[in-house]
Amino acid sequence: MAAKSYMRVENVVKKFGPFTALDDVDLDIAPGEVHALLGDNGAGKSTLIKILSGVHQPTSGSIYVDGKKVFFRNPRDAAAAGIGTVYQDLAINQLMSVTRNFFMGRELTSTFGILRMDEMDKIAHEEMKKIGIDFTDPSQAVGTMSGGQRQTLAIARAIYFGAKVLILDEPTSALGQKQQMEVLKTIKRVRARGDIAIIFITHNEIHSKLIADRYTFLALGKVIGAGTKKELAGEDIRRLMAGGAEMADLEQELGAI
Ligand SMILES: Nc1ncnc2c1ncn2[C@@H]1O[C@H](COP(=O)(O)OP(=O)(O)O)[C@@H](O)[C@H]1O
Ligand SMILES: [Mg+2]
Repeated sequence: MAAKSYMRVENVVKKFGPFTALDDVDLDIAPGEVHALLGDNGAGKSTLIKILSGVHQPTSGSIYVDGKKVFFRNPRDAAAAGIGTVYQDLAINQLMSVTRNFFMGRELTSTFGILRMDEMDKIAHEEMKKIGIDFTDPSQAVGTMSGGQRQTLAIARAIYFGAKVLILDEPTSALGQKQQMEVLKTIKRVRARGDIAIIFITHNEIHSKLIADRYTFLALGKVIGAGTKKELAGEDIRRLMAGGAEMADLEQELGAI
């Protein structure tokens, strides 16, 4: 095991009835690193992060956090262990303010149950500013934020509430080019803190090349490639992204018509 590994997945298998969605998967996640999780649709990326987030339980295999074996019965267990997951839909309420979304369900209140709005506005503003957006009036509705800014809001929220492992499910996929770059900058700023491990799920080869330190490629539930940029230097990344299919095989398949 790498000395600074914070979270480790070992021999994880996940079956849904007779179907094997994950087959003997290993993953090492270290603080200050962006670990890109790549693979075609159906590869098992979402299933794997749902296991890491406590949504699903593995059929077999082990998960270690900070050297200790853990078993997450539910998302609350995972959150308590410092796993923060930012899903594609972001769990954001468009009509509510930025601050109310930031603190959703975890509001600061006075002894009489009154919301401490000024304090919450200040924290929301400061926490988002640290990782890249200076949204000066967080009392505005989230609807006034760009898609990239919403990603930053969800990331800042996860970190503020204690995430040590930040799982980002396709954070750039629904955005235009300019906003994609904003989100990549946010991810780099989180990495620069040095104390948070980031799992970055993407379909975008260029984005993974731009910011990932380490890669794991999944295809039909199996790891078909893993390593640092250097270790994978001789590999055909495009082939791994396509689930390991060779271009010649694909051409032959199409050529039969
Ligand atoms: N709850 C489930 N029940 C049955 N099969 C599932 C379930 N969740 C995912 N699968 C199957 O597991 C495989 C991997 O899915 P998923 O993890 O969503 O892949 P990815 O996120 O890489 O596209 C797919 O074939 C999918 O149909
Ligand atoms: Mg998925």
